[in-house]
Amino acid sequence: MRNLAVLGGGKIGEALISGLINAGADPQTITVTNRRPERGVELREKYGVRDLTDNRQAVEGAGVVFLCVKPKDITSLIGEISDTLEDNDATTVLVSMAAGIPLAAMEDASVAGTPVVRVMPNTPMLVGRGMNAVATGRFVSDEQLAEVTNLLGTVGEVVPVEESDMDAVTALAGSSPAYFFLVAEALIDAGVSLGLTRDIAEKLVTTTAAGAGVMLAESGVDPATLRANVSSPAGTTVAALRELEESGIRGAFFRATEACAQRSADLGSGKNVSRQGDLEEFSGT
Ligand SMILES: NC(=O)c1ccc[n+]([C@@H]2O[C@H](COP(=O)([O-])OP(=O)(O)OC[C@H]3O[C@@H](n4cnc5c(N)ncnc54)[C@H](OP(=O)(O)O)[C@@H]3O)[C@@H](O)[C@H]2O)c1
Repeated sequence: MRNLAVLGGGKIGEALISGLINAGADPQTITVTNRRPERGVELREKYGVRDLTDNRQAVEGAGVVFLCVKPKDITSLIGEISDTLEDNDATTVLVSMAAGIPLAAMEDASVAGTPVVRVMPNTPMLVGRGMNAVATGRFVSDEQLAEVTNLLGTVGEVVPVEESDMDAVTALAGSSPAYFFLVAEALIDAGVSLGLTRDIAEKLVTTTAAGAGVMLAESGVDPATLRANVSSPAGTTVAALRELEESGIRGAFFRATEACAQRSADLGSGKNVSRQGDLEEFSGT
C-alpha cells in the first residue's frame, strides 16, 4: 500500500483512519493533519498514525491524499498542497470526502492533470460498514480508481455514481445515519414514556436496530416485505404503523431528503450561508 495522507482528522477523517487500521493497514503509512496539534496527538495515541499540522509535509511522497476538511476549505487546501504534489515522484490521487464541492472546482484548483476522485462517505465506516459513493474526475486512470476503490472497500461498500447524483446520494447515504439515530433516540424516549427504564429502553432499541439493519443488508428481502412479515392482521404492529402513516412519516422523509439534497447543491454553488444568514460553520453533512 502506498503512503496515505488524511488532511483533516475530524469525524470523517477519524472514521476513515479507524476503518483502515481495523482492516489491517499499517498505522505508520498513514499521516493525519489538523490545525490543532492536540487533536493530532489524540489520533496518534489512539491509532498509532503519524500526525502533523503541516499539510505540505503530510502529502510529500503520499500516493493517495484524502481531503477530509469542511467543504468551504477544500479548494484552498488543494491550492496549499499543489506544488508539493507536483514534486512527488509518482502521481498522487486526491480523494475528496466533502459534500457539495464539484470535481470541476477541485480540478481547477489543482495543477493541470491532477487525478481527483469525489466520494460521499458516511460515518458507519468507523465500524467497517460505510457506504462510499464514488464519482471519478477526468484525469483518473483505471489503476488509480482501483487503488481508491480498494482502500474504501476496506471500510465499507463502494458504488460508482454519476456526479450529477451526488446531492441525492448525500441525502440517502452521507447524512442518513443521522435519520436512523434520530429514530432510535425518539423510540428510546417513547419507551421511557411507556414506563421502561432508560437502560432497558436503550438496550431494546439498539439491539433491534442492529438486527433490523443486518436483515436489511443481508437477507436479500426488500424492506416492504420485511415490514409486512412483522405485521399480523389487526395486530400490534399495524396499530403502530397506522399511527406513523397518519403522522406523515413518508412525506417527512421526502421533504427531509429534498432539503438535504438542496443544501448539498447550495454548498457546491458557494451558498455557504445558513438559514439565519450567519456564516455556515457546519461540516456540510
Ligand atoms: N460527518 C459526516 O457524517 C460526513 C459524511 C459525509 C461527508 N462528510 C464530509 O467530510 C468532511 C469533513 O466533515 P467532518 O464531519 O469530519 O468535519 P469535522 O469533524 O469538523 O472535521 C474537519 C477536520 O478538519 C480539520 N481541519 C480544518 N482545516 C484544516 C486544514 N486547513 N488543514 C488540516 N486540517 C484541517 C479540523 O481540525 P482543526 O480545527 O484542528 O484543524 C477538523 O478536525 C466534510 O467536507 C463533510 O462534507 C462528513
